[in-house]
Amino acid sequence: MSRNLISIQDFSKEEILEVLKMAAGFEKNPSQPIFRDKVVASIFFEPSTRTRLSFETAANRLGARVIGFSDAGNTSVTKGETIKDTIKMVSNYADLIVMRHPLEGSARYASEISPVPVINAGDGSNQHPSQTLLDLYSIQKTQGRLDNLFINMVGDLKYGRTVHSLLQAMSHFNPTFLFTAPEELKLPNEYKEYLRKRNIRFEETRNLSDGICQSDILYMTRVQRERFTDAIEYERVKNVYSLNNSMLDGAKPNMKILHPLPRVNEIALDVDNSDHAYYFDQAKNGVYTRMAIITKLFS
Ligand code: CP
Repeated sequence: MSRNLISIQDFSKEEILEVLKMAAGFEKNPSQPIFRDKVVASIFFEPSTRTRLSFETAANRLGARVIGFSDAGNTSVTKGETIKDTIKMVSNYADLIVMRHPLEGSARYASEISPVPVINAGDGSNQHPSQTLLDLYSIQKTQGRLDNLFINMVGDLKYGRTVHSLLQAMSHFNPTFLFTAPEELKLPNEYKEYLRKRNIRFEETRNLSDGICQSDILYMTRVQRERFTDAIEYERVKNVYSLNNSMLDGAKPNMKILHPLPRVNEIALDVDNSDHAYYFDQAKNGVYTRMAIITKLFS
């Protein structure tokens, strides 16, 4: 049976640390064509810049060849072909499938059909485990550790799949969380229960300025228009937070701002030159981390 990465919970703490260690090796030496005989399929049913291009770069740097699509509108899905049949076909052609889809659970479903490994590159508001691994890599690299950190997650905590995956992964490392969100975008109860069961400390606030000074990591997220069924509700909350440079006075010297990107208005451009800004480096770390994930699944 092939190994998949659908939820971050599919990897143990030891496996997460193993991937981070491998990623550090790939950062030191990014051209390692060890999978010249492999084909990676990159199938994206939802838009992406970073995840798709960094996975494809990772596969290329490992010597694999890449097939796939970035727009299902150019595939036989438009003629009514099901996910099941699409996955059966793609797994005939490729040795590993990287898939993004707007439906929660679609990646798990694909993994149950596919004889080759499947990596979930984001399924609706559920999970984005490869993002989490690059987030962990970025946290470890900037803080020198993963244990005992104060993580402030800000923005769309309801639909934010990167938030859901990251809080589960960080739970291995005794974090303290602050969840900063408006009422409409609060962290769902199932995730709070998850933390309570593991005795992980967390508090909630609506006020962005409440936790900036305590934070080791300020994890900003976009309010995602594509997840709202009610356009009026989106309009009400879309600009709820906007971090600017003056708000960073008093932040701890080690504090880093992470964001899975893309950003819209939640981080002002004047933050980009701050020593606290790390989101562009974070995205670059995606290549090394995804090289490590592909290597682990091929091994
Ligand atoms: N972080 C992330 O998933 O970005 P993309 O949507 O551009 O892939």
